[in-house]
Amino acid sequence: MGIVSWRRRDGARMEEHGAPGEAESDQDKAALWQVLREEVRQCQACGLHRTRTQTVFGVGNTEAHWMIIGEAPGADEDRQGEPFVGRAGQLLNEMLFAVGLSRQRVFIANVLKCRPPNNRDPKPEEVRACQSYLQRQIELVAPHILLVVGRIAAQHLLDSSAPLGRLRGRVHRYGEEKIPLVVTYHPAYLLRSPLEKRKAWADLLLARSVLEGRGE
Ligand code: URA
Repeated sequence: MGIVSWRRRDGARMEEHGAPGEAESDQDKAALWQVLREEVRQCQACGLHRTRTQTVFGVGNTEAHWMIIGEAPGADEDRQGEPFVGRAGQLLNEMLFAVGLSRQRVFIANVLKCRPPNNRDPKPEEVRACQSYLQRQIELVAPHILLVVGRIAAQHLLDSSAPLGRLRGRVHRYGEEKIPLVVTYHPAYLLRSPLEKRKAWADLLLARSVLEGRGE
């Protein structure tokens, strides 16, 4: 258990579950998800394991075209073990609905799998300790578009210190697969600043236009 064969896109095989590449079959892929889920569940790689109620792995369709990435679980998510279930989550659901999507059709994950106490910003060492989990989730879902909500997640994924206003409004590319990535405001920010919803709507349309360009 834990070692699953991968076949790389260049044809080479890798006997390591964390290696990038393409799973051989649906069964292998399910095994990889299972291994990853269990690793996250037992993770003690940073101090957040001491204060969490439980880890928050991610939720949704593992074959989704859209993958939504947020920052870290809050109190509701820590309690329920699912990302974006609080007020910000409700707004995220509405945003998805507005572009014809539902939570069941996308995959939702966070940069951090554990709640930072009092919802403080993640520390760089916590992000580092957690980053291979998100990386492997992205490889397994292989989404056609990454929608990244909020400054913290956007700066991490784009390895940038630019403010969110400079990162939104265009299509970035992520990783070796050059997955299109669009940044938008965090729904918790939109709850506080509803006038910015207009810009978030433009970001969603931009993300959707990327998929429409692929004929989806
Ligand atoms: N904010 C996030 O970034 N993620 C969640 O899961 C909840 C709130």
